[in-house]
Amino acid sequence: MHAGSPGLPDFFSSSFLERMMRSFISHTFTAVVVMAASSATAAPPSIVTQGNGAALACASCHGVDGAGNPQAGFPVLAQLPPAYFAKQIADFKAGTRTHPVMTPIAQAMSVEDAESSARHYASQPRPKAGASTVDPAVIARGRNLAINGAWDRQVPPCFKCHAVDGLGVAPAFPAIAGQHAAYTVRQLEAWKTGARTNDPQKLMKAVAESLSDDDIRSVAEYLATLGTQGKGK
Ligand code: HEC
Ligand code: HEC
Repeated sequence: MHAGSPGLPDFFSSSFLERMMRSFISHTFTAVVVMAASSATAAPPSIVTQGNGAALACASCHGVDGAGNPQAGFPVLAQLPPAYFAKQIADFKAGTRTHPVMTPIAQAMSVEDAESSARHYASQPRPKAGASTVDPAVIARGRNLAINGAWDRQVPPCFKCHAVDGLGVAPAFPAIAGQHAAYTVRQLEAWKTGARTNDPQKLMKAVAESLSDDDIRSVAEYLATLGTQGKGK
């Protein structure tokens, strides 16, 4: 049930995770200027509404509110920690994360564009999810993985790192609750196949490699049913 089970390595135990988080955060984020969250009422920056040359206006795909578009495959950006957000832009530029649409947009963004759009989207509430049409047994299986993991198969609980409500822990652990299922599936598969390699200490690669296709689908569908749990729009 948890890392104390006999025969399991210490890899994903609570103390391992805590140590890992502390060392990762201190190594990766000490140089990042802590960005104060802007107030939700501030006008969105021009990079979001108008873009900057080849950096197309973020709002045209992700919305001003960062709710994204599930049909088109544009992810929710609302409430991502600013440091995680800015790191993704830098990772698209560096090529440790690639996407035919986002890579050229990121390449055209300045550091200021990345920081101001990150601040703007962090201040937006995670959208409230609509009713799910997915089989409740699939949702229940995904919920169990997110909350309890499957220690017999080396799968740690997702919420151990992504917070008990899946809304993430700044600066490094993104919100995964309320994300569109197809996007979540694509990211987990990208780690499995090695197409996304930007995760610190290969944490998500290790997690994704332990997940079956059914695990991936069910956890993604479960996460999509969560949002701000009534606090959002
Ligand atoms: C033409 C559509 C489009 C536009 C315009 C666009 N994006 Fe994206 N964005 C995407 C897609 C598609 C993805 C998903 C990439 C993937 O699957 O890895 C994405 C992913 C992202 C991510 C990663 C999210 C995560 O959860 O890790 C960030 C951050 C992001 N976009 C920021 C921006 C910013 C900032 C702008 C404006 C300068 C912008 N995007 C403009 C389509 C767009
Ligand atoms: C040991 C800590 C840890 C655990 C456990 C963990 N994650 Fe993550 N996860 C991370 C980190 C760190 C990142 C950010 C990677 C990066 O910087 O790109 C991440 C990123 C993600 C992303 C990408 C989010 C986005 O917006 O693109 C998804 C999806 C995700 N995790 C899903 C899961 C699921 C599902 C589980 C459980 C099966 C899980 N994670 C368990 C640490 C963890």
